Amino acid sequence: PQAKLTDRFGRTVNYVRLSVTDRCDFRCVYCMAEDMTFLPRQQVLTLEEIARVARNFVGLGTEKIRLTGGEPLVRKDILELVQEIGSYGLRDFAMTTNGSQLPVMAEKLRHAGLHRLNISLDSLDRDKFRNITRTGNLDQVLDGIDAARDAGFRGIKLNTVVMKGRNDEEIPELVEFARKKQVDITFIEEMPLGEISEHDRGLALCTSDEVRELISEHHELIEATENSGGPARYYRMPDSSIRVGFISPHSHNFCSTCNRVRVTVEGRLLLCLGNEHSVDLMRVLRGHPVTDDKLRQTIIDAMDLKPERHHFSANGDVEILRFMNMTGG
Ligand code: GTP
Ligand code: 5AD
Ligand code: SF4
Repeated sequence: PQAKLTDRFGRTVNYVRLSVTDRCDFRCVYCMAEDMTFLPRQQVLTLEEIARVARNFVGLGTEKIRLTGGEPLVRKDILELVQEIGSYGLRDFAMTTNGSQLPVMAEKLRHAGLHRLNISLDSLDRDKFRNITRTGNLDQVLDGIDAARDAGFRGIKLNTVVMKGRNDEEIPELVEFARKKQVDITFIEEMPLGEISEHDRGLALCTSDEVRELISEHHELIEATENSGGPARYYRMPDSSIRVGFISPHSHNFCSTCNRVRVTVEGRLLLCLGNEHSVDLMRVLRGHPVTDDKLRQTIIDAMDLKPERHHFSANGDVEILRFMNMTGG
């Protein structure tokens, strides 16, 4: 790569999260309103445009790409994009998914060149799972996790957003499940993105410290020395090879070492999950003439807008109006 992406605070950006759709077959309470309206097709980047953005980021030193949503696997022809990006020789190529399509997609994704999968799993109880995801089917997701294991990914991680009264009592069972399946698991503090009625985030917030204490009643947790570079802090257990992670935007932000930017499904280059600073790449992609030089220069210039940190408030007050499904987390 001829240039490196660096921001005003000396942080190098080498990780891009690309949201490939705002749509999803689930309606998780922390992510979406129940009656979501989705974007009309012309406001959504085409797969070719997404690939073009990805290719130019790679030209600027990006080593890691994660595809997100909404739910990336509900995007038509997603395998073509995975195959294209899979050919760029990335150090790490991952996807975050709700798992519902994995029974049919896991092996195809692995073949298309995807390295790793993060799968959301908030409950092992059918009713609670339904209560949180509103439309999700637990059995499909459990089959999806098994399909992902069989497909031989380099790494599989479960993501659990912990909410008081919804799934906080299941934490020990979720840890046992991860141990049995031999996959990592990360517990996440809910972030206030998008205004959602009938779900009180302030009341539901369960801090990572509380979760860790609960797990410690069953297993010794040893802080892992390797730094993930990402938002999670990891722990190991003496009698298992899996890692237990904690993402704690409220209590431990990792902004000072942040290495990532996002591209929303509308082609906005978003410089921070917890702020609105962004640059419109779609305008460049659909302008005349479109050149890769112009796209790369726009990306380089955008780095000056990356804010120093986010300021999520713990009482659940919403500062960011965009929903998580626009951003992919
Ligand atoms: P890596 O890509 O390996 O770092 O995985 P990840 O855990 O970041 O990715 P995933 O898509 O599984 O996201 C899990 C949770 O981390 C979601 O709730 C994300 O919103 C959150 N997350 C990811 N990136 C950031 C970030 O830059 N800031 C904050 N506060 N949270 C983030
Ligand atoms: N706060 C924290 N995590 C969230 N996710 C979705 N919405 C939120 C939120 N408001 C998680 C999902 C998924 C990942 C992409 O982000 O559980 O694992
Ligand atoms: Fe869909 Fe993921 Fe949002 Fe749940 S968190 S509604 S699975 S995009």
